[in-house]
Amino acid sequence: MIREEQTTIGFHVWGAEKLSEEKLTVLRLDNDGITYAMAVTEEGYLLHVYYGKRCGDDDLTYLLHLDEGNYTPQHHNRERMGFMDSRPFEYPCHGIGDFREPCFMILDGDGMSACDLRYKNHRIVSGKPELKQKGVSCIPATFAKEDEAETLIITMEDEHAGLTAELSYTIFRDRNVITRAVKVYNRGYGDVRLQRVLSACVELPGMDYEMITLNGNWARECAVSRVPLHAGKQLTDSLRGVSSAQHNPFMALCTPGTDEEHGEVYAFHLVYSGNFLAEAEVTGGKQTRTVIGINPYDFSWLLRPEEEFQTPEAVLVYSEEGLGGMSRTFHDLYRSHLIRSYWKDRERPILINNWEATYFNFDQDKLYAIAEEASKLGIEMLVMDDGWFGCRNFDDNSLGDWVVNEEKLKGGLKPLTDRINALGMKFGIWFEPEMVSDNSELYRAHPEWAIQIIGRDLTQARAQYVLDYSNAEVRDYVYGMLTNILNSANIEYVKWDMNRALTEVGSTSLPRKRQRELWHRYVLGVYDLMNRLTTDYPKLLLENCSSGGGRFDPAMLYFSPQIWASDDTDAIERLKIQYGTSYCYPVSAMGAHVSDCPNHLLGRTTPFDTRGDVALVGTFGYELDVTRIPAEDRAKIPGQVAKYHRFHKLMSDGDQYRLGNLFKDNTYDAWMFVAKDKSEALLTYVQVLGKPSEPAKRLYLRGLDADRKYFCEETGQTLSGKTLAACGIDVGLRGDFVSKTFYFKAEEA
Ligand code: GLA
Repeated sequence: MIREEQTTIGFHVWGAEKLSEEKLTVLRLDNDGITYAMAVTEEGYLLHVYYGKRCGDDDLTYLLHLDEGNYTPQHHNRERMGFMDSRPFEYPCHGIGDFREPCFMILDGDGMSACDLRYKNHRIVSGKPELKQKGVSCIPATFAKEDEAETLIITMEDEHAGLTAELSYTIFRDRNVITRAVKVYNRGYGDVRLQRVLSACVELPGMDYEMITLNGNWARECAVSRVPLHAGKQLTDSLRGVSSAQHNPFMALCTPGTDEEHGEVYAFHLVYSGNFLAEAEVTGGKQTRTVIGINPYDFSWLLRPEEEFQTPEAVLVYSEEGLGGMSRTFHDLYRSHLIRSYWKDRERPILINNWEATYFNFDQDKLYAIAEEASKLGIEMLVMDDGWFGCRNFDDNSLGDWVVNEEKLKGGLKPLTDRINALGMKFGIWFEPEMVSDNSELYRAHPEWAIQIIGRDLTQARAQYVLDYSNAEVRDYVYGMLTNILNSANIEYVKWDMNRALTEVGSTSLPRKRQRELWHRYVLGVYDLMNRLTTDYPKLLLENCSSGGGRFDPAMLYFSPQIWASDDTDAIERLKIQYGTSYCYPVSAMGAHVSDCPNHLLGRTTPFDTRGDVALVGTFGYELDVTRIPAEDRAKIPGQVAKYHRFHKLMSDGDQYRLGNLFKDNTYDAWMFVAKDKSEALLTYVQVLGKPSEPAKRLYLRGLDADRKYFCEETGQTLSGKTLAACGIDVGLRGDFVSKTFYFKAEEA
């Protein structure tokens, strides 16, 4: 899969008659679907040759066009600046003649920022080494067994600065995926500041691409934006300290006309939960440079001699089957090579969460009443949300005081969990471990533990501050409180929330020289605690949340198999949110609940069945007071529960096909899940707006086996996969906001 070859390339020198020659070392990663090729020049520059669909075993270095440009006789007869500013570099450095977006920039002991990483050597290892950095307990990344992937590690060196950088490239045996990361060592005698250490750069030929990003806001996460590239730089990023609801750490470039089935897509996703940057630059030479990594804005990391720095991992997915192909590759990769949880392939308990049911206004009896009714309907777990601790009757106090409020829950958690367990239900709990309220015992005792700049006013958001997770003492203290609670009763699920962005980013525990490291050290601190939690409680079901989907990123998936996708539980708004989220995340990771109507956020009323069908495309649960909803809605819950049990495996393990796109046509949405062996499929249609005097909506099915016949339970028809794809089925319904599912079973071969 990974190999090294030597080649010699001839090139013309401006004004010279003779052809010049140069020896190149080619490093090439191939599997059945993709090829990634690089070349090392005689001076040690690492050039990008090709990335995309699998090509033949030919010498690809002609793609470098070394003879282009305005050369004057010099080393290799190259005019250095012309060369540096036009060649496709694998890991471009700042300050040596490449004026496009760099990946690497330093500040050395002399105050200089230029750097020049050159190839030293490389090694190939089977499998995928873990990402590690001394002093850091856990860096989330994809994983693979020895026979599932191969990794190329290229060592680059900047002799002047005394730095080496190891660029690692993993190719998965049977997935169109390359993962990349960079590790920098200070091998010199002086301190160096890393000002910019991105995870990957890929140069794509030409500029005829469209850029797709996932953007939004609170309650409107993952809206798809798609625009043609223009000259210059275009980017998506976060400066909030979290990956953010505003922009997901994802960017894809696709060829014009790409749809769900056709077209080439080059997707980039960063396994990171903090400030990120993903950028495409259309250069003067009409090529496209893409970069992704930790956002260099306000980033600086002091690297003392013998210290090392490991970047987060960038996941590169290539698809020649459009956006659908891209998404299915991400889903498969994340389900089998990123999510670690005990629960990743297990059926998750159907939960009922009391947030929209009670907000802060509950006690043991109220929760028990909800659980008792829910258990009769087949719901399997009660999740007690915000409001059970300190004196939390509103959102302006007590974060950080993780002790049970005995006015609400007399005798602590055990009496309640015992009663819930006696109903045959599991019990889960909400925490917001990274926060401290202004009005809290913890803040009064340790004001220095909040992220702050001494002497400046602290910005409050929801009357709370962010704890300084770069400080191990803070983490240990919080962890002690969490484990006290977790050990006090039978708690099988935790919802880990995070409800504000970082401001006045300073630490009372870091030295002056390391203050700008806080953004990243904070994220590493969060990883440390999530790692401890999931290691110490291996069967705990952890669900991440950040005011909904504000930290829905691949790094969080490493710890928690599911993430609450949005505080917007309106079924119709959810269609768009879940559509965008499905670009890179599998439905098994998407927290989705049926809530009460009129919807608390929008005031919209939708049929209970539609709410069920939409929540089914996710981890499925309820977020309502089941004792108070209309009796006819309550009566539908057992049917929805049965539907989840019946189709959960098909949906969580199968291939997803999107058949609608509300961003283009706001009248309907539709999607399918097809079993990997194509033996069954479930189609869901949601009619957002009914239309008079129009033929019924026709949907053309995808992903079925063309040669097999499928019986559809709802229509009673048996049709071949070929016919269902070519002629489709008519699914029109009467009304707005209505939905219907269609189950297809293949006849035995
Ligand atoms: C955030 C979460 C909600 C809920 C509240 C509780 O907004 O996204 O689901 O847990 O906090 O305060």
